[in-house]
Order: sequence, then C-alpha cells, then structure tokens
Amino acid sequence: MENRKIPAHIGIIMDGNGRWAKQRNLPRSEGHKAGAKVFKQICDYAGEIGIKCITFYAFSTENWRRPPEEVQALMDLFREYMGEAQERQEENLQKGMRMHFIGHREGIPDDLNELFDTTEEESKDADKYDVNIAINYGGRLEILDGFKKIAADVKDGKINPEDITEQMISDHLYTAGEPDPDLIIRPSGEYRLSNFLIWQSAYSEFWFSDILWPDFTPADLDKAIDDFNNRNRRFGGV
Ligand code: IPE
Ligand code: IPE
Ligand code: MG
Repeated sequence: MENRKIPAHIGIIMDGNGRWAKQRNLPRSEGHKAGAKVFKQICDYAGEIGIKCITFYAFSTENWRRPPEEVQALMDLFREYMGEAQERQEENLQKGMRMHFIGHREGIPDDLNELFDTTEEESKDADKYDVNIAINYGGRLEILDGFKKIAADVKDGKINPEDITEQMISDHLYTAGEPDPDLIIRPSGEYRLSNFLIWQSAYSEFWFSDILWPDFTPADLDKAIDDFNNRNRRFGGV
C-alpha cells in the first residue's frame, strides 16, 4: 500500500509454535526454535519498514504451568538468543535496535537476567527503534507491580490518592515512556489477549490470523499493517 501509515507501536503474540511442531511430528521444542528464527526475521524487518516500537510476547507469567522440560527448552532458547545477540551487538546497534526486556524479573534465572541487563545497557544509545521482549510478562502482574510503587509513594506522603492519574499508572508500567500499541497481532487462530498489554491495549486495533507463528512472514506483517490502515479509529468520538 502506498503512503501507508506505520503504527507507532505494534505488539505481537508469538503463538502456535507447539501446533506447528505437532503438524510435523516434531517435539514442541522444535516449534519454539522455528519460532525464534521468525522472531529474528520479523524484528529486523520491523526496523527496515520504520516501526519505532515493537513488543514481542515470548513467555507469559502463566507459561510456567507447562511441563518443566518445555520451560527448560524455552529458557535455553532465550539464553542461546541472548548469546547470539551479544555476538551481533555491533550489527544490532547498526540496525538501531534498542532492546528492552519487559516482565517480572523475579523468577527468571539469574544468568538470564544478567544477559538482559547487559544487552539493555549495551543497546541503550541505539535510536532507530525499540524492541521489547516480554518474558515472564503478565499484564495483571505488571499493573500490580506498578500499583505497589504508587501505593508506596502514597504511604511515604509523596502523593495523595486523589492525585493518581491514568498517566501516572502508564508511567509505572514496564512500557513507561513508550506509546500504547496501535496494533496487536495474534496468529495461531486464538482470539484472546492472554494477559498481554491489557492496560495499554485499551484502544488498540487487533489483527488475528490462523497462521502459526513459525509460518509468519514479513508479508503477513505488511498485510496486518495494510489492514490497520483501513481501520477507522474513533477513540470514542464520532
Ligand atoms: C507460543 O507457542 C510460545 C509460547 C507460549 C512460549 P505455543 O507453545 O503456545 O504453541 P501452541 O499454542 O501450543 O501451538
Ligand atoms: C500466549 O500464548 C503467550 C505467548 C505467546 C508468550 P499461550 O499459548 O500461552 O496462550 P493461551 O494459553 O493459549 O491463552
Ligand atoms: Mg499457545
């Protein structure tokens, strides 16, 4: 589409890895590996087409309910990706990728948290686009974490309860300072948010598809953005 508007922030729920593997009689972990490749490809492509902020949902606070072998395989995959990201640090910086790991840090293995911190620190001056990776992320826990900080400020007398604003709540979320997602993409044929960006998505446009995440291509991202361009966003107005 010519002259299309690129959403300021896109959220992607990377779902369907398990079913993709099942279709091929492969273990679920192979689906996650294939999904990780697609993540890298889409992440690069997002920068190429001028997206300023993109959030990938990689592991939810509810995903700990999975069998320990699967959780382990996912953590190993995150480690592998982080190792590669370290090696490609120069390249990623050139691409202008500022990395941000959003989620509840407690519960994530220490070595992974350290890799998250180093990568965030090393990419902090990149200025083309923000890439958020949501790991141990849950929208409700994010709001709860923010609430606890606000409550502490009330207790310490720094603010009065009646002074709490919506903006203040947004500023206490992991996505503080970033625009709310204009577009949320969920492949895999599920029609739900699964606790993803629940505060921030109040006025997001949603794009659902039956494609399984490992089959998702840059052309699908383009299709979602084109469809987004045909939406009429009213924000409650007329
Ligand atoms: C998404 O794929 C990856 C994570 C949630 C970590 P799934 O593993 O949920 O794949 P399906 O939904 O079982 O196909
Ligand atoms: C959502 O997918 C979480 C991620 C993609 C990381 P799930 O597969 O966990 O979602 P449900 O369980 O189908 O709602
Ligand atoms: Mg799933």
